[in-house]
Amino acid sequence: MTASDSRQIIIAPSMLSADWWNVGDDVRQLEAAGCQWLHFDAMDAHFVPNLTLGPMFLKAVRPHSQLHFDAHLMMSDAGDYVDDFVAAGANSISVHVEANAHLHRVIHKIKDNGAQAGVVVNPATPICVLEAILPDVDYVLVMSVNPGFGGQKFLPLCLPKIAWLKTQREERGLNFLIQVDGGVSVETAPEVVRAGADVLVIGSALFRKDVSLEESVRQLRASFAPVLSS
Ligand code: DX5
Ligand code: ZN
Repeated sequence: MTASDSRQIIIAPSMLSADWWNVGDDVRQLEAAGCQWLHFDAMDAHFVPNLTLGPMFLKAVRPHSQLHFDAHLMMSDAGDYVDDFVAAGANSISVHVEANAHLHRVIHKIKDNGAQAGVVVNPATPICVLEAILPDVDYVLVMSVNPGFGGQKFLPLCLPKIAWLKTQREERGLNFLIQVDGGVSVETAPEVVRAGADVLVIGSALFRKDVSLEESVRQLRASFAPVLSS
């Protein structure tokens, strides 16, 4: 998919909120519900204050799913782990601008390994810092929470960043996707889609106890459908 098809919104469930005891069931249900990507959050307890999924987790799921595996590396030395995540089956890998002094090198290492490359910005990071790297990336991930945990409150300061990216893409004839991660729900998805997002990462608001994953995905799509048709 390219940015020109951007009004076809990609849903990327965050596996951080999955039922890890029955993760296979969750993945099968997400596939049946028409989700296109699975989002894997790798945290190193250094760049962010939490420790989560490494490449071995992707490797375990990879034989059981055809979906696009998207690895979000919240890690200080992300470049050192690119090979491992690609070998484990990641189709795309994103790294933080705040954690990679030699961002251009890491982005191209990802691409040279045959995966799509994304750059991530934290809520307090000005989006204009990405101006030079935009032609090199396949997607930009705008954080709408401070990374480290699921279930946090959506920060609206991400919205002008999405709009800026959309304008940059149009004015410069670029083709990256815009991804948003953190606090996405049926309440916030419409404004995120209205601002111009192409890929919605969604964790705690999708994996609910009261409805099935299929119904949860349906409700999410219904929440932003009016924005797409307006
Ligand atoms: C946060 C992670 C997110 C997180 C999103 O650091 O990058 O992917 O799982 O979870 P929710 O949707 O609950 O904010
Ligand atoms: Zn994430």
